[in-house]
Amino acid sequence: MTTTRSLWHATSPLIEVDTTLPSKVDVVVVGAGLAGLSTAAILARAGRSVAVLEAREVGAVATGNTTAKLSLLQGGVFSGIRSHAGDEALEAYVAANRAGQDWLRAELAGEPEAIEQRDAFTYATTREGAKSVDQEAEALAAVGFDVDVLGEGQDAGLPYAVTRAIRMRGQWQIHPMRALAKLAASVRDHAGSVVTGCRVLGTDETDDGVIVHTSRGAVLADRVVVTSGFPVIDRAGFFARLKPSRSLAAAYRVPGDVPRGMYLSVDPQERSLRTAEGLLVVGGPAWTTGRERDTDALVRELDEWTVANFPGAVRQTWWAAQDYQTVTQVPFYGAVGERMHAATGFNKWGMTNAAAAALTIAGDILGEPVPWALSPHLKLRDGAEFVAAQAGVAASVVNGVVRTVTRSGELAEGEGHVIRDGVHPVAESRVNGEVCRVSAVCTHMKGILEWNRAEQSWDCPLHASRFAPDGAVLEGPAVEALERR
Ligand SMILES: Cc1cc2nc3c(=O)[nH]c(=O)nc-3n(C[C@H](O)[C@H](O)[C@H](O)COP(=O)(O)OP(=O)(O)OC[C@H]3O[C@@H](n4cnc5c(N)ncnc54)[C@H](O)[C@@H]3O)c2cc1C
Ligand code: FES
Repeated sequence: MTTTRSLWHATSPLIEVDTTLPSKVDVVVVGAGLAGLSTAAILARAGRSVAVLEAREVGAVATGNTTAKLSLLQGGVFSGIRSHAGDEALEAYVAANRAGQDWLRAELAGEPEAIEQRDAFTYATTREGAKSVDQEAEALAAVGFDVDVLGEGQDAGLPYAVTRAIRMRGQWQIHPMRALAKLAASVRDHAGSVVTGCRVLGTDETDDGVIVHTSRGAVLADRVVVTSGFPVIDRAGFFARLKPSRSLAAAYRVPGDVPRGMYLSVDPQERSLRTAEGLLVVGGPAWTTGRERDTDALVRELDEWTVANFPGAVRQTWWAAQDYQTVTQVPFYGAVGERMHAATGFNKWGMTNAAAAALTIAGDILGEPVPWALSPHLKLRDGAEFVAAQAGVAASVVNGVVRTVTRSGELAEGEGHVIRDGVHPVAESRVNGEVCRVSAVCTHMKGILEWNRAEQSWDCPLHASRFAPDGAVLEGPAVEALERR
């Protein structure tokens, strides 16, 4: 069951990029996802010289594999922020997300292939989920949103019954690769560059600026903006504050009518729905990267659920992606040093948050600060909860070592396992008939990797770095490939 391309990559326009690495710029932006290209576009239009350095290709990671609802109705996020960080934090979050939504909407205005208006729904099909919907409705009311709350028996536009639902009218869904294409073109039209296949490896701060070391040489910059998803240059201990969550999405051809709105359930079994390119996009289930052994079973589960609820549905493609949550559920966007800025922790709501991060960071660099202040709220309670989160991680790593080093033997096609070579754990896999042996020790902070069968990758249970069978970095905080054994 090999990974196919996301619907967005499969229908992406050609995105022109640059091949030459500039030697000196005002701002280096690390990563060509929505946060990076939005920040770069704002700065380039304001006359700053900007280079976006992307390790893989534009939209390679979260943004090209998202479900791309540009919505202020965000599942259970508002009640989560309210209970973890308080009303003031929620108000700042709403202000930032409103501005982010408005900005991206304006960027894509007049492009019906890139953006469409839809009603958004948060719903539940269980009693437990109905309580979460009620809490979310209270949080929305507390920050002044006027939404419709639908009870049992009321039509939410789904082919199955709901116990409760919230409808927020007039939200948006986008085609994320078309959005990135537009932003990349804007950066380049304003004398900026977007260099792909260029991995940032580290930085040195000097009196003259920041030297950014990359796989293709060095660039001197006055400022560096780290928008690599999980920050690859970590000046704020993000590795200890972010919880990864990976989830599946698939696009189905469905006979007959499909729901027109954008839906997200807050039941224990989370499901996301929207339409795109004449197909129904279904999201879920989610798992912690590197801690799910049978990822194939999750793809089957998604297919079975979809066919049960939309009879005759035929999967066209499937993909997976991950995003990161802070312990307060408040994202981080801001300064992490005199010359360094970072954006992360979008908690699967990065369409609004990436744009809000871009406005915030570009505002700081241009000396035009935004009116909301999100970053202080990240610090409110993360001490105690962080310890608990790390304890879970540590336990999982120990289990990983015990479980994986004992197995060996012939591998079936598509399988991977960790064996011992002397004292060193070796990650062995067979993909398309080719056997690869690489170190099973993550190059970030030495987590022991776990085979992800459905996606055929080596995933780290500590901070979610992912590697291809040949050891190449796919995503996460690691910057170095796994050593070949
Ligand atoms: C399954 C799923 C569904 C989602 N659905 C929604 C939704 O409906 N609505 C919503 O608002 N949000 C959604 N999100 C969240 C949203 O997709 C993300 O928050 C957002 O795309 C993150 O954008 P980004 O620019 O921060 O990161 P990315 O798009 O991941 O960009 C980071 C880039 O940095 C590059 N990079 C990494 N390391 C380096 C390095 N060392 N050097 C150079 N480049 C590097 C990567 O290759 C990547 O291209 C979803 C997320 C997931 C996982
Ligand atoms: S991602 Fe941090 S140790 Fe692997």
